[in-house]
Amino acid sequence: MAQQRVPLIAGNWKMNLDHLQAIGVVQKLAWTLEEGKHTYDAAGAEVVVFPPFTDLRSVQTLIEGDRFRLGFGAQDLSQHDSGAYTGEISGAFLKALKAGYVLVGHSERRQYHGETDEICAAKVGAAIRHGIVPVLCVGETAEDLERHGASAVPVAQLRAVLGTLQADAELVIAYEPVWAIGSGQAATAEQAQQVCAALRTTIREVLGDAAADRTRILYGGSVKSGNIAGFLREPDIDGALVGGASLDPVEFAAIARFQKHVGV
Ligand code: PGA
Repeated sequence: MAQQRVPLIAGNWKMNLDHLQAIGVVQKLAWTLEEGKHTYDAAGAEVVVFPPFTDLRSVQTLIEGDRFRLGFGAQDLSQHDSGAYTGEISGAFLKALKAGYVLVGHSERRQYHGETDEICAAKVGAAIRHGIVPVLCVGETAEDLERHGASAVPVAQLRAVLGTLQADAELVIAYEPVWAIGSGQAATAEQAQQVCAALRTTIREVLGDAAADRTRILYGGSVKSGNIAGFLREPDIDGALVGGASLDPVEFAAIARFQKHVGV
């Protein structure tokens, strides 16, 4: 984690928690963070949740109404802005709900919904067009790792999208090795750092120094309060994308307070 980048702790709820459960979890998360008197704003970490679409309005009104210092985003968006795309959600709708972020190209969407690098690039473009920060997920499968090493596939996935962007584009990258997601088998901090450094070098090559220095790169895959500190000690890891552990607000709050464990 470099000094100039505000760490981002993001919780991907996936297809869990309906809108009533979401209210309970967000309240508990905010209260737990407040009670710890931990500064999780600009001085500490930015904390963002990614609930299912049907929860977003409830989460928005709760966060706004109670002035919780939490951000929120969606797990996906359409590459199109409006029209005959049954079941899709436009970036314009997410912007109207004041979503700050949107996940793009999570491995579960690449795997189960056939999302290619071209589709991911179009979705990143749609997010930026609507003023929402895309969190582009990249990562290798166990087979990719064996065949090509750790960095090749995530770097190629990133390059395919960066090539379509302007140098001043704001985005977040999440490096999530597919073999580490939901497996309880996180990458080591050293492994994750190596790939995140390669991703930053790629940003530098394609978009230049300012973009490379500004862009936050997260690690994701079996992150919990017991291993977060090791990742955040690495110079090119600026936060985490947390799945399973983000469903428990007390555990997720403990992850957001990683600085307690990092000892900085
Ligand atoms: P996990 O999921 O933390 O449950 O491994 C991470 C993710 O898929 O974003």
